[in-house]
Order: sequence, then C-alpha cells, then structure tokens
Amino acid sequence: MTNADFPATGPLAPVEAGTLKLVDVRLYGEGDPVTVLIEDGVIVSLDADRDAEADRTVDGRGHVLLPGLVDIHVHLREPGREDTETIVTGSQAAAKGGFTAVFTMANTMPVMDQPVIAESVWLKGQHAAICDVHPIGSITKGLGGKELTEFGMMANSQARVRMFSDDGKCVDDPQIMRRALEYAKGQDVLLAQHAEEPRLTEGSVAHEGETAAKLGLRGWPRAAEESIVARDALLARDYGNRVHVCHASTTGSVELVKWAKAQGIPMTAEVTPHHLLLTDEKLHTYDGQYRVNPPLREEHDTLALRDALLDGTIDCVATDHAPHGSEEKCVEFEYAKPGMLGLETSLAIVAELFVATGRADWRWVAKVMSERPAEIVRLPGHGRPIAVGEPANLTIVDPGSTWTARGADMASKAENTPYEGMEFSAKVTTTVLRGRLTCVDGVPAEPREEN
Ligand code: DOR
Ligand code: ZN
Repeated sequence: MTNADFPATGPLAPVEAGTLKLVDVRLYGEGDPVTVLIEDGVIVSLDADRDAEADRTVDGRGHVLLPGLVDIHVHLREPGREDTETIVTGSQAAAKGGFTAVFTMANTMPVMDQPVIAESVWLKGQHAAICDVHPIGSITKGLGGKELTEFGMMANSQARVRMFSDDGKCVDDPQIMRRALEYAKGQDVLLAQHAEEPRLTEGSVAHEGETAAKLGLRGWPRAAEESIVARDALLARDYGNRVHVCHASTTGSVELVKWAKAQGIPMTAEVTPHHLLLTDEKLHTYDGQYRVNPPLREEHDTLALRDALLDGTIDCVATDHAPHGSEEKCVEFEYAKPGMLGLETSLAIVAELFVATGRADWRWVAKVMSERPAEIVRLPGHGRPIAVGEPANLTIVDPGSTWTARGADMASKAENTPYEGMEFSAKVTTTVLRGRLTCVDGVPAEPREEN
C-alpha cells in the first residue's frame, strides 16, 4: 500500500518517514502484549522483536491498542472564533483524546458553505498534521435554511467534503430537506441533521420536564427532536438517500431510528457522551456549563441511548465538542451559550459506562468510536482493522489510570467541560497519525508546520 491509497483526500496527507515501534501493547485489549512495528506510516508487523531497531519507540506498558478514533461531529471554531478554538488547538484536543480524524461543523464565521473555506480548513489541518480535520459543508447558504449550497463543488474541491450539515440549526423546511436529499444522492454525500423543530423550541433552554418546571426554565420538548427524526426518515425512504441523526437524545428518537432501520431506510444516528452520562438533574446548580443543544434529558433517555448504542440502533459516538469562552458560559443559565467540550473526555466516559461495567469490550469501543463513524462518512484510511499493510492510525489507552478532568488542563483553547473535577480511569497515553506521534504521555504534538 502506498500513501496514495489511504490519505483521506488530496496529495498532502503526510506520513511520518522512518520506523516507529510500539512495545508491549495489547491489540483491542486482548491476548498477550505484542510489539507493533510501523514503517513510513504503515503497520508492517504485529509481532516484531521488542528489541528491533526503530527510529522512535513507545513503551506501551501492556496497555490497550485501538484504531485511531474518529469523531464525525466537532466544532473547531475556525474561521471566526479562534479565541475559543482553532484548527491547531482542536487537533491537539483530538489527539489527546485518541482521535486521528475529526469532522468539523459548518457553523463557523463565515459559514463553511463554499469550497474555498472548506479547503482552507482542510489544508490548515494537514499542515499541522496532528489530526485529519475534515470540514463539513453547510446544507444551506449561510445556514439560512433557504438556498442549497453547491454540494458538488465542495465534494470535488481539495477538501473532498463528504458530509453536509446545518448543525446548530435544523433544516426545518421539509421541501428544502427533500431537495437536499435528492441533490446529495447524486453526489453520494451524507446529510447530517440537527433535529429540532424550531417552532417548538422558541426560547427553550432546558429539557421540558419536571426539573425545568421547578427551576423556572423554558422547556425544549422531546417532540421537537422526534418530529424531525420521523419526518427525515420518511423523506429518506421516499427520496432514497442516507440521512444521519446528530446527537440523538431521547428514548423516542431511539424508537424512531429503530423503526426506520427495520424498514430498510438508510438512516444512521450518533449519540454524545454527555447524553449517555448526564441528566437534567445537573441543572439544579443553574451552572451554564450544563446548557447544551439538544438539552440533557432524563434518566430513562440515557438508559435507552446506552442500550441503543449497544444493540447497534445508534451507530456511533460523536462528541459534539463545542468550545465556548468563559464570558459565554459563566453567565446566568438562560444566557449561557449551548455546548460543551467533549474530545478529551469521550473515551474515558465510554470506557466507564460500558467497559468498566462489563457491558462491552474494547473491540466494541473500536467499533462505535472508530470503525462505524469512518464507515458512515465513507472515510478511507481511518477506522481500519489493526493489521499489517494498514495505515498506522492508532491510539494507546491506559485502562487503569486515575485522573481528574479539569478544564484548565485541557489542550482545547476553551475550558467549558461539564466534567470539572470528575474522576475517570481510562486515559489516552499515545496517539499515532500515519506513523507520526501526535500525542505522547498524554501531551499532544506541536504543529508540523506553522500555517
Ligand atoms: O450545544 C450545541 N452547541 N449544540 C449545537 O447544535 C451547536 C453547538 C455549538 O456550535 O456551540
Ligand atoms: Zn454540534
């Protein structure tokens, strides 16, 4: 295999020349520790001599080796809000979280609705070479919900945009969504929907339920999400293209996606770590860190989402990493901007909920955090099996570390984590992007080239 076979797109996709040796790693956390040898960005041996010559060596200490994680839903805020996150700091947060590819949403300033903007994001990511940063194009111009963007031009640009979304906003006009599905089908690109019927969420800041009622917060009903999931399933059925549900948050959305899949409708769905772990009980502090769209729901929703991820109804985990400045979060709840950081805590949360409880193993984690997301967006080179001849996109996880999440310690430029002070055990120690060490001992790499 040559580099040309697996770069995500274009000619850049750098590989690290020379050899890298990962000593004492357990593939998918299974079996005896082995030594993995990487040459010019490609895995060349899974049972190398631990004393083999190599340009660089990492002691895996018997930890878990996974394929590099893939996040199909992040917000890196460049262009426009570089004070809260940039391609470089977002890439560093990603590498620290074990990710080798992320897809960054179109709600930047200006909106990612033209090839030149998408290309600039892609090229900045490639120059930094810390994580493959794939721009997501917007479905409508300026996220205005009225006029479709040029999917074809963005798909054929140097950025090879393969996913489109107005995330942050819903494509609520059914006729626009129908036309988008028809257009996307011809280009074989994925549409990802932020399911929120805006008329039902005007002024809403929290999940519509007992907690919001007690706290005097305007509620965001489940039906606002579910009505769009149901509508899009029907549109996908009749206009025959794939549709992906961003951040599914309710029991009803799970039931609808299950129904759609049973009908053979090409619908996929993701869930965020925060919707798996947290509920609206957190809102009792009125802490703006817990404001997010869709809002934190109730316990039965989290349980249904966990079961759905386990049984495959929900395909994958995506973080919806949404950096905001403290001036946007440390304010009265209703004025706080919705969104929370996710890249540096997601693996730990998934491990805590599923591996530590014995509900799933590391191979399953590889599926929902790497293989399935790469498949959904048809991304070559990532989410691949750990095998000889495959690109060396890998991450090493210490499953038994004890660490405390702190916004101030994060590689992200922002600090708006809802997990401040929480203790976790699984910790990413090392991340490898096509043979390049992008995270060593939990410290992310510096950009390869200045932009
Ligand atoms: O909480 C959210 N924050 N939900 C979204 O859909 C958008 C995101 C953001 O951009 O901050
Ligand atoms: Zn989002």
